[in-house]
Order: sequence, then C-alpha cells, then structure tokens
Amino acid sequence: MCGIVGYTGTQEAAPVLLDGLKKLEYRGYDSAGIAVMEGRSIAICKVKGRIANLCEKTKDGEALPGTTGIGHTRWATHGAPTEENAHPHLSNDGRFAVVHNGIIENYMSLRDELIRSGYRFESETDTEVIVHLIERYYKGNMRDALIKTSNRLQGSYALGVICSEEPGRIYAVREASPLILGIGVGENFFASDVTALVSHTRSVIYLEDGEFAEIDADSVRVFDGAGQEIRKKISRVLWDVRAAEKGGHEHFMLKEIMEQPGAVRATVAPRIRNGEVVFEELETLIPHLENVRKIVITACGSAYYAGCAGKYALERLCRIPVEVELASELRYSDPLIDEGTLVIVISQSGETADTIAALKECRSKGAKTLAIVNVVGSTVASLADWTVYTWAGPEIAVATTKGYTTQIAVLYMLAAYIAKHLGLLQNEAALTDTLQALPRRIQQAIDMNPSIPALARKYHASKALFFIGRNTDYAVALEGALKMKEISYLHSEAYAAGELKHGTIALIEEHQPVIALCCNASIMEKTLSNIVEVKSRGAEVLALTFRSNRQIVSVADDLLFIPPVDPLFSAVIEIVPLQLLAYHVARENGCDIDKPKNLAKSVTVE
Ligand code: AGP
Repeated sequence: MCGIVGYTGTQEAAPVLLDGLKKLEYRGYDSAGIAVMEGRSIAICKVKGRIANLCEKTKDGEALPGTTGIGHTRWATHGAPTEENAHPHLSNDGRFAVVHNGIIENYMSLRDELIRSGYRFESETDTEVIVHLIERYYKGNMRDALIKTSNRLQGSYALGVICSEEPGRIYAVREASPLILGIGVGENFFASDVTALVSHTRSVIYLEDGEFAEIDADSVRVFDGAGQEIRKKISRVLWDVRAAEKGGHEHFMLKEIMEQPGAVRATVAPRIRNGEVVFEELETLIPHLENVRKIVITACGSAYYAGCAGKYALERLCRIPVEVELASELRYSDPLIDEGTLVIVISQSGETADTIAALKECRSKGAKTLAIVNVVGSTVASLADWTVYTWAGPEIAVATTKGYTTQIAVLYMLAAYIAKHLGLLQNEAALTDTLQALPRRIQQAIDMNPSIPALARKYHASKALFFIGRNTDYAVALEGALKMKEISYLHSEAYAAGELKHGTIALIEEHQPVIALCCNASIMEKTLSNIVEVKSRGAEVLALTFRSNRQIVSVADDLLFIPPVDPLFSAVIEIVPLQLLAYHVARENGCDIDKPKNLAKSVTVE
C-alpha cells in the first residue's frame, strides 16, 4: 500500500504535496518523491527513506517551483526501497510523470513488450510500465492515452499523472485502489485517502473503479472507462485527520483486520495464472526440490503460528516431512539441518533478531533458505536464497492480522507449487479456485463483526480463556490465544483438544470459558467429545464452526460461524472471528489496542 497526492492551483505545489505525503506516511514509508511542473517542464525529486528526507532534499519544496504536481510515499512491493524505485516515474521523453498505488499483475509481460519496442527502464518496479505505455499511446489526447493504457493493465492501480504538454493539469485514474478528489476554491487535489485533503478542503469526490479525472485549478471533470463524462456527487468529510489515517476505524488493528480480503487477494492473485500457481521469484528453486528431504519452518510469535497452520498443506500436498521450530529455540539447538533441508523463514517485519539468527544458523549448516516477508528489502529478505513477499501493505498495529493471514496464503500456494514441480499435484485448477475464493470467504467472516461485541462483553472479565482444537484447528487456536492475550491482557492458552485430559482439564471450573475450534470435519467427533468433557466440568463453550454442524451447535453455549472451506485452507478464515473477539474484548477492557504494553512491532533484540 502506498500513498499518492496531486495538486493544481495558485499555491506553490511542492509544499502542498509534501504536507499531503506526511499525512499519508503511515501507508508506506520506505521511499518518496514529488514531480512539479513549471511551464512545460517537469522537475522530479526522489529519496530513499521517509518524507523528512524529501523535505530536506527539496528545501521544504522551495527547490521545485511550480503550481502543479504529484507526489508519492512508497511501501515497496516490486523492487527494493531505493531512490531509483521511488515514484514518480518519468517517461523516456520526459513529458510524463506517474505515481501509483497498487500492483500491476501483468507487468512482466508489459515490461518485455516495451523493452522490445525500445523503451528504457530505470527501475525494477511494476509501476514504470505505466508511464511508458502512456508515452506510447499519447497522440495529443491524454484521455485516449489513459484509456488505452488502462485497457492494458491487470491488477490494482490508483494513478496520478502529469504531462508537460498540458501545464496546470493533473490526471487521476482509479482501479481497485482508493483515490479521492479534493475540491477547493481555485485549487483542486487528489489523494489516496482523505487524510491528505481535510486540511485543505472537506469537499471530496470518491472516484470509483474504472473512472478517471481531468483536474485543473478551477475545474474537475470525471470520465468513465469509455471516455464519457459523468456527474459525481460531492461529499463532505466528517472525519478528523487521525480517524482518516485509520480509514474511519477506531484503531489500526481493526482497519488491518478489514484489509485482509484485499491483502490476501494482492498476495494470491498475481501468482495464479490460467489455473496455475506461478512464483517467478522461485524458478531457480525448482531444480533443488528433488533433493529436499525435509522442510523446516522457523519464525517467532504469530509468524511461527502461521507456519503451524501452513504445515498441514505442505505435508499433505508435497509428502515431505515438515517441522515447525521456534526461531529462538532453533538457533541454540544445533539443529539436524543440512543441504537436504529447505528452511522456510517467516517474518512480517523481516527484522526479528531471533529469526535472523536462526536463518544464519541454518545457512551455516548448508540448508537452502526461503523467506516469506512483508517488508521489501528487509534483513531476512536480504539473507535468504529466495524471498516471497506478502503484499499486505504496511502493518501498523503491533498485533499482526493481515501479516499472519497473507503468510499462510503464501504457504498454501507454496505447497501447491512444490507439489506440482514434484509431479504430485492433482487437480491444480480446483485448488487455485479455492485459493482465489479465500478473500471472499475472509470477507464473509469479517461480516460477523457486528455479533462479536456481545460475546466480548460476556467474556471480557474472565480470569482465563482456553482455546482448544485439533490438527489445523489447533494451529489456529494458538494464534487466537496469542491475539487475545497480547491486546486484552487476559490469560489465554491454546491446547490440543485431545491433550486436555492429560492434566489441563484440572483447571476447568464452573463458568470457565473455553473457545472450541471445530472447523475440521474429519475430526469433528473427537472435538465434540472434548467439548462435552469440559462442559461436564462446568465450562462455558464458545464454538467456532459451520452453520451445518448441528452436533456442535446443539452442545455449545455460544457460536461463531464461518463459511465452510477445506480445512487444509481454512486457517485464514477461522482466525478472523478470533481476531475480532480479541479486538472487542480489549476494547471493552479499555486497552491500548494498537500499542499493547511491553510489546514492539518488531523485536529486533534477543
Ligand atoms: C504478533 O501479533 C506479535 N506482534 C508477534 O508475535 C510477532 O508475530 C513476532 O514478534 C514476529 O514478528 P515478525 O513476523 O515481524 O518476525
């Protein structure tokens, strides 16, 4: 996720753009840039790092005179966070500059086509194909050029464009990434969200997918994908700036829970083509697969629990033993790892000290290493032999949500990819259909949100909470318990349901809340008997299951329903109600949800 801004009016554009980018920095902060037009020339300034670096380099905008411009603050997805990869990107002839938020899924083929046509690329980004397409299609009419360019793009894009042939004008294009127009007096704006606009104007137009805008200082015209002008309603922004950063949500954590369908789609969709799982970044892994005798997954916290959930798909599809090890343990255990081991290292931040150390330990023993990381160019990514990025966008809340679900989504695809290249995968098309349907299923789980606060009010004062499940349900129970304890501070523990009778059931007393995950039909009977066991000792059971599961429905005290999905791929759905329950319990208890006590977003120390 990135932030884009645009301005045209009577003020100097650069300071307005810089101010807007500061308000959007939470959307991405690894590089930034602005392009300002004065007369018929475009000046660009880009930096690695935060907006402060851009302010310094442009002398708070004084170095780039002009009253029209566009700006960008980046969360790297394709291409490391370098100055060359920062936006805006300039066409070869210098007449066009583009900023982009989103992912161009077919950029590789477009890049090859443009290079064959003689276009020169300066960056590794997917975005750069856009500015060269606009240059190719521009014959004096920007609307035509934008329509022709959009027709070639697959994926998500909110674009800002300026053209030196059209001084004083900015263009905005929206497809599956947010883009809002700000309507001022003698000046107009665009931005990724209202945060960057509300200090200038509260009159906004929300562009919709397929629409684009032609913006001058004293006029804003909106067109549909066929180039027909359309009338748009002007809305009033009622949020304050802080609320806007959270998309109107009270906390970043809730915003990021709600972003999970989009984050999983952004991570999965570009890697499924014509019913096949494709990892361009893993082509050199394929020859090594026949030598892999064991897979070890190592990580910390939620990333470790993501590995616990993904293990089942890897073993089932690839028929290779998978061990999931805590990085803080593995690094000191002299692990039985060698060149026949594929080590999968999972980390949202890519900077967790224990995970980095475990990765180095595995490399020193000759293992091949594959990283699943959300932060492009992070240390884990730089050390691994291969890196697969989750395209979840920046995760601000300390408690991970979309980071965890996108990690599991990558593990699901990795299982299919490895199985296919080992000649073991049956019916890949059906499997990719399941994977492509996950965002919709996650959304269905999110839609339960209104029913969660009542449960939170019932459980928020509990002394302790037990999360139980078997197999894939147990893996999700681990993450559900961590979410609950790290933001609500309620003592919460996950137990393999079959393990309860070996001691822990001694803790079950009258009204003890037990959250039972029952989403794996193959072992439902067994979990049902565990529910009966704890209920007979006075527990109150909140069951997470399918509506059709009448046996569980008949014994549970409270119920959370999820849409039925193959349990091999259901973890990313099952976890959503548990994320929401933890959130609402913490909210009920007045906790600092985005910044829980004693915790940090990235544990860069041992
Ligand atoms: C998860 O909600 C926690 N914030 C924590 O367990 C986290 O998952 C762990 O520290 C690993 O972080 P990483 O994914 O950035 O390596």
